[in-house]
Amino acid sequence: MTETTKAPAAATAEERNGAEEEKRTVVRTQQVKKVYQMGEIEVHALRGVDLEIYAGEYLSIMGPSGSGKSTFFNMVGGLDKPTEGKVYIDEVDVAQLDAYELAWLRCRKIGYIFQSFNLIPVMTALENVTLPMVFAGLTSDESRDKGMDLLGKVGLGERHSHKPFELSGGQQQRVAVARALANDPAVVLADEPTANLDLRTGTEIIELLRSMNESFGVTVISATHDHKMLSVSDRVVRVSDGQVERIQLREDLEIETVAVGDEET
Ligand SMILES: Nc1ncnc2c1ncn2[C@@H]1O[C@H](COP(=O)(O)OP(=O)(O)OP(=O)(O)O)[C@@H](O)[C@H]1O
Ligand SMILES: [Mg+2]
Repeated sequence: MTETTKAPAAATAEERNGAEEEKRTVVRTQQVKKVYQMGEIEVHALRGVDLEIYAGEYLSIMGPSGSGKSTFFNMVGGLDKPTEGKVYIDEVDVAQLDAYELAWLRCRKIGYIFQSFNLIPVMTALENVTLPMVFAGLTSDESRDKGMDLLGKVGLGERHSHKPFELSGGQQQRVAVARALANDPAVVLADEPTANLDLRTGTEIIELLRSMNESFGVTVISATHDHKMLSVSDRVVRVSDGQVERIQLREDLEIETVAVGDEET
């Protein structure tokens, strides 16, 4: 019997080329600066952030309180404008969009998850999830079917008629995850999604985000203090005082995760 063996070097190069081809940039920031004017005082929240975020990756942004994480999110999410620099989503310069195009981008391309869930209190879980679909022009039947499907995927199919106050914090955040995915966005932005949750519920939300990232291929960008997030992240961007300090890859993180364990900062 003859065995055919491939030259390992050639195979590795091939794989590497394949991986390079798959790496598509979905968000690119170029020297993004943000200065808040507080009367006489200028607050330099971002001091020139250059970052490329790839389609399908799970990226965590970590850094101390006040380091500019939420400010960066607002820029990437088209919720606020940089004082200087550019933000490109799918290679489109966000600053060039008119109000209508910006609203379209926020509705279709980006899903938002916040620390305090931000569900609409008078609406049921299903209505919260389907609201962005209605904005996007789906019929009520289409949005109901899609909303029920998404609620099923986040494990809340049975709770569709509950209002936020009838749900636990973790369940509310699951509804927020489903809502963020309503219009099949390219990017989900999650700002401290586990900060108001206990250890176990926080872990469940992180695992849910990771599984949505894997099954939908959606890019997840999460700002967090939560070290549990390290184990699911493809890359971690460390920010400090409005600047990127360093970027760590998954391989480097595995070592750190073992050392840090489940602690939170
Ligand atoms: N609207 C605003 N007006 C003035 N200053 C602001 C505003 N928003 C944020 N800042 C300031 O910008 C800096 C960065 O704030 P940011 O909220 O981005 O930090 P963060 O990293 O998200 O912190 P945390 O971990 O506490 O959420 C801080 O010094 C903050 O006080
Ligand atoms: Mg913040």
